[in-house]
Amino acid sequence: MNLLVVGATGTLGRQIVRRALDEGHQVRCLVRSPRKAAFLKEWGAELCQGDICKPKTLPPALNGVEAVIDAATARARDSSSIRKIDWDGKVALIQAVRSAEIERYIFFSILNAEKFPDVPLMDIKHCTERFLAESGLKYTILRPCGFMQGLIGQYAIPILDNQAVWVAGESTPVAYMDTIDIAKFAVRALEIPETENQTFPIVGTRAWSADEIVRLCENLSGQPAKISRLPLGILRVVRKFVSFFQWGWNVADRLAFAEVLASGKPLAANMTEVYEVFGLDAKETTTLEAYLQDYFRRIVKKLREIGYEKEKQKKKKKTPFKS
Ligand SMILES: NC(=O)c1ccc[n+]([C@@H]2O[C@H](COP(=O)([O-])OP(=O)(O)OC[C@H]3O[C@@H](n4cnc5c(N)ncnc54)[C@H](OP(=O)(O)O)[C@@H]3O)[C@@H](O)[C@H]2O)c1
Repeated sequence: MNLLVVGATGTLGRQIVRRALDEGHQVRCLVRSPRKAAFLKEWGAELCQGDICKPKTLPPALNGVEAVIDAATARARDSSSIRKIDWDGKVALIQAVRSAEIERYIFFSILNAEKFPDVPLMDIKHCTERFLAESGLKYTILRPCGFMQGLIGQYAIPILDNQAVWVAGESTPVAYMDTIDIAKFAVRALEIPETENQTFPIVGTRAWSADEIVRLCENLSGQPAKISRLPLGILRVVRKFVSFFQWGWNVADRLAFAEVLASGKPLAANMTEVYEVFGLDAKETTTLEAYLQDYFRRIVKKLREIGYEKEKQKKKKKTPFKS
């Protein structure tokens, strides 16, 4: 198929491009900065410069495309707000897809989006799900929870670095999935008519609390963690304060996410039927233990190599020069 991947430079988007190319699809990527996306071209994808917030850039990117996989979302450092990118941008993209008479659209939402109307990104995701359902497109909505890749910066690196690990509120358990596994569902959906006009949870094998993840990281790294707990009340005050300033809107919207993580309602779902519909094997899904074990094994090996190199350099310096 001729595919357009939007958000292709992102954590998930790049895995979708990789998977789609491996499965023999022709992949075009809508990218804001072709320079930043050079690696996608090296993999064999075509780049098309554009921005979902600039509707005029969309028709050329959609020319000749049979299906769109949308994994775009506002970056924390984006100058545009979540509302501008995740709502205005997505509405423009869906309308452009409809005008281009492309039928198939795969959209990434977030699990339980409808349960958090006070959290801006959740509310926007839920509204987009509804907009898509009424668009007339053959859509598939995939709803992940946490990405395992996000746990490296949040837990693994601070623990290895002997820095504080920040845990929000009461630590709601969350199911995490490797984006490599999530990408399989996005690409497979294109082949399976039963996935059309349907919504599926795409979550990990089980939900993990922050304390469980910390313990796992401690065991795998052999280092104790310094845990700093941020009470929800403090996060709410900071959120209100930064939302007074325009530069703080994105920060405030992200802090609102703490409400989800501190809600006490586990973010997880049963996926038995989903694996059946997609014809994928649950046993092939990476578990959190396996993912983190692999990360720590590789990092410890790298640190040993660096230590060995440093030792070698030191010895060289100590050896007197022989003529
Ligand atoms: N991260 C999570 O834990 C999580 C959990 C559940 C669901 N999701 C959903 O999964 C999807 C992928 O998330 P992610 O974490 O992989 O995203 P990400 O790493 O933050 O990447 C976002 C992508 O969107 C692109 N983008 C942003 N604004 C754009 C615009 N105006 N026009 C075109 N492209 C634009 C970015 O391009 P640039 O490289 O140019 O910035 C980047 O490729 C999103 O829909 C997200 O809401 C994420």
